[in-house]
Amino acid sequence: MCGITGYVGGRANSVRLTLDSLKRLEYRGYDSAGVAVVKPGEAQVTVLKKKGKLGNLEAALDGLDRSGGTVIAHTRWATHGRPNDVNAHPHSDCSGRIALIHNGIIENYIGLKQTLTEAGHIFKSDTDTEVLAHLIESHLNSAGSLEGAVRAALSEVTGAYAICVVSTEEPDTIYAAKTASPLIIGLGEGENFLASDIPAVMGYTRNVLVLEDGDFAKITPEGVTLTTLSGHPLNREVFHVTWDVSTAQKGGYPHFMIKEIYDQPQAIRDTLRGRITETHGVAFPELTLPTSKLVDFNRIVIVACGTAYNAGLVGKNFYEHLLRRPVEVQVASEFRYNDPIVDAQTLAIIISQSGETADTLAALREAKIKGATTLAVVNVVGSSIAREADEVLYTYAGPEICVASTKAYVTQLIGLYLLGLYIAQEENKLGPGVVAAYVEQLQNLPEQVAEILTDTSAVQDAAKQLASSSSFFFLGRGFDYAAAQEGALKLKEVSYIHAEAYAAGELKHGPLALVEPGVTVVCLATQSALYDKIQSSVKEVKARDGTALGIVKIGDEGLNENFVDMVLRVPSTHDTFMPVLAIIPMQLLAYYIASELGREIDQPRNLAKSVTVE
Ligand code: F6R
Repeated sequence: MCGITGYVGGRANSVRLTLDSLKRLEYRGYDSAGVAVVKPGEAQVTVLKKKGKLGNLEAALDGLDRSGGTVIAHTRWATHGRPNDVNAHPHSDCSGRIALIHNGIIENYIGLKQTLTEAGHIFKSDTDTEVLAHLIESHLNSAGSLEGAVRAALSEVTGAYAICVVSTEEPDTIYAAKTASPLIIGLGEGENFLASDIPAVMGYTRNVLVLEDGDFAKITPEGVTLTTLSGHPLNREVFHVTWDVSTAQKGGYPHFMIKEIYDQPQAIRDTLRGRITETHGVAFPELTLPTSKLVDFNRIVIVACGTAYNAGLVGKNFYEHLLRRPVEVQVASEFRYNDPIVDAQTLAIIISQSGETADTLAALREAKIKGATTLAVVNVVGSSIAREADEVLYTYAGPEICVASTKAYVTQLIGLYLLGLYIAQEENKLGPGVVAAYVEQLQNLPEQVAEILTDTSAVQDAAKQLASSSSFFFLGRGFDYAAAQEGALKLKEVSYIHAEAYAAGELKHGPLALVEPGVTVVCLATQSALYDKIQSSVKEVKARDGTALGIVKIGDEGLNENFVDMVLRVPSTHDTFMPVLAIIPMQLLAYYIASELGREIDQPRNLAKSVTVE
């Protein structure tokens, strides 16, 4: 998500060096940037931060870039608190002698902030990160050293972090630690480098230590000491980077699309983080809507475009199944012109990755004018939709660079599931333990997605055989039909092959006329109760010499290789959550077919990442 760089050593241009390194991470997007510099004998760490692009920060340096010193620098992608100068990193303690940068989310920051405020600490920003600076300060005396204070502070926080800390106490040292957010150390001669990702240090060294979860590092110009958080010595192998910069920016993958597909287990974890209680309930500390109002809406309308709309289709099925309330999903560009039935009893759920899509924004405004309560499911913090909606539920997919959406979609699904379960929990109409049972299955999804991604050979084989297809249909019923819509969209976007989704039962009402040799029909069969029905669709396809590919749950043999030409198998979860697993082979299929055809995968022709015109 955010970009981190750091430097310890004797170069006079250390500030410029860390900012140049951040530029190598710029492609991932950010909303503000900052730098902290510390030199021996200074009473405070110098901190400079600016909203917007790195150029704004560079324009304000005023000689700081010629000062030398130990430096940490950061580009922020907002998660808690709007993008502005104050919320930008680094953050400092009350004394100004400690500064730190952070990538990740501190889950228990609200409680910690309250305790620290009561103890007299003064907070300047709305961020979760600032808590860490004050927490370290609060431990300085009792721990007896900066290192002890950093360790003590980290042992109190839960969540995800890669952090780098500097202080006037030890001006030649950076302390760094990581859990669930990436951090690497570049090894130099008489100098060392820190970064959230390898491309940042490639201009200076190709020898790197890739930190693992729970690692704690003390970095000085002379060397790096690695321990666990509790102080046990660690040895990590030095990795010699042979990639070029462009490959390194994609984490070693050939395209952002495949990197982002592989980011999904972590993106799901990040979106669940802090929202599941110890008793497997759902918590949404960010929602301000009173429970009485939340459970009182008699109508839910979901509005979005493209992939976000497809996520909404899954949301509709889930809410109707779970809450037994009518839910409507509308394409945002149609919403205003359909004279929508929306009033003060309506909850309008607006879904958008970018938070800037013009049609979706216009629909949000229309819903507000008509008196609805609006709740946005958005990935980009501080975006227009996030700012204008009454309530915001952020997904934590991180920056999505490939135009074709993958990780934003699965995190939108997770956000929608959590919201439905939250309403059900607050309504208290389901039997005891029902919400908890769903939540437990939700928590397994990151590992199940990772399991699918460990062996993609079957999808790659299928892609080779199917890349010459003239046309694709994606068929499913219920939740499978909703997932099929996203499967078809992915394929057409990146492969340029015509692809359409149909409710399986509709095949014989028209599209069957198009099935002939060269046409591939992807049959989703992950809904236990609908298994037999999808078998009859497969028979209709095979009888016309179409090619059939089944997507089934591991262990279900109803659509095995005797029925279809090829099968892709995924693990099982509750039927309502199967779209999260079923979409993974479809994303991979789209990617590998597009690769076979030599397409411009990350930037498909005619498409833009954020559609800000109607
Ligand atoms: C498809 C895709 C688009 C977007 C759509 C809405 O892969 O990315 O269909 O989903 O343009 O964009 P957001 O979610 O930013 O409102």
